[in-house]
Amino acid sequence: MASYLLRKTIRRMPGVVIKAVPKPRPEVTEGFQSRQHAGMICKVKGYQSCLLVTDRTLYCLGYHEMIVRSLEEKNICCTVFYDIASEPNTEIVEAGRTAAIACNADCFIALGGGSVLDASKMIASGLRLHRRRVKSLLHKFLYVRGKSVPMISIPSTAGTGAEITVGAVVTKSDKGAKGSTVVIGLNIVHVILDSELTMKAPRTVTAACGIDALSHGLEGVVAAVKVHEKDMLESKECVRLVLENLPVVLKTPDCETSRLAMCRAAMYGGNAINEQLAGYIHAFAHSIGALYHIPHGNAIALSLLPVMQFQKAKCLLRLSELAVYCRLADSAENPEAAADKLLNAIEALILACDFPKRGRFIPREDYPLLIKRISNDSINYSAPVVLSRKDISRLLDEINGSKEKSHAIYRS
Ligand SMILES: [Fe+2]
Repeated sequence: MASYLLRKTIRRMPGVVIKAVPKPRPEVTEGFQSRQHAGMICKVKGYQSCLLVTDRTLYCLGYHEMIVRSLEEKNICCTVFYDIASEPNTEIVEAGRTAAIACNADCFIALGGGSVLDASKMIASGLRLHRRRVKSLLHKFLYVRGKSVPMISIPSTAGTGAEITVGAVVTKSDKGAKGSTVVIGLNIVHVILDSELTMKAPRTVTAACGIDALSHGLEGVVAAVKVHEKDMLESKECVRLVLENLPVVLKTPDCETSRLAMCRAAMYGGNAINEQLAGYIHAFAHSIGALYHIPHGNAIALSLLPVMQFQKAKCLLRLSELAVYCRLADSAENPEAAADKLLNAIEALILACDFPKRGRFIPREDYPLLIKRISNDSINYSAPVVLSRKDISRLLDEINGSKEKSHAIYRS
């Protein structure tokens, strides 16, 4: 009991700390092929030499060319660094920083998914701290005095929200372990939401990224932190946009309007991570994903409903308000019925994405390790409930597809 109360107290701390971290407030440009405005954006801001960071896949697809042309038209030097791997490590970040020093970069343009965006954050921060090795920058919090070098984010997926989040995940080259860093002083000055970039994504990637974005908005709505009205509205809008537009882009991948709506949803989800933190959906998904090598979005799809059902009673009012906001329920409706309509709509969406309803792959002997990891990870979040070891075990049963239902046994 004492340990439970201690965990409950500690769990309130990240919310307090994260509130104090300054968040980027970038301008946003959006639309089909809107990356062509990168040159004008840099010109207006007075940048002279830009390092365009991307990965090999996007480079081979030629998605960077429109950006390079727009910079050249404005007489801004541009160097392309396309060596970012799917799981960037400290060596790659170090190489990026060397490239940035060589071209005297005063601005970064990050074109890519979460890996490129996170690596760019570390390169932009590392450039200000050039006397230190990148490995030494991977602390829980990295303070960059006077802000990092300015960065323009151009996400190529609609899901992670990394275009705006202050966190970055980079693998330590020597140990192979992932390290998550919150950058204090991250200077993301502009986000370009170009719907063309997400159109060629495989269906599975679109679905996984979309469900990930949905989970960010959803966990933002029910988070146990003081939420500013604007942030709550963005979290709700994230959920509404995904529920309405993910089915459209799954059926019609080249629908510009819905692709752009998904890009917006992902950015709002990123804001939710920054302002409200995530919750147990992410704690379960991180631990299960890491142990069984399941991509993040797929692990989220497995964890989302069991976790939300479990904590439904605790956040009934917020869920019912969200259901009304998403036009799934009437404001006069009973809160429980309204919340059920929302969760049913989410369940239908997960099934439409072809994710399995249950896992059926977690052996009982892995439970102690998973329980420990989920419990430890949850300290970083702001979930509306605090789960005991027994609660986590019951939820693992639920995710794994055992017959036992595990809702509404939270501790208040
Ligand atoms: Fe996520």
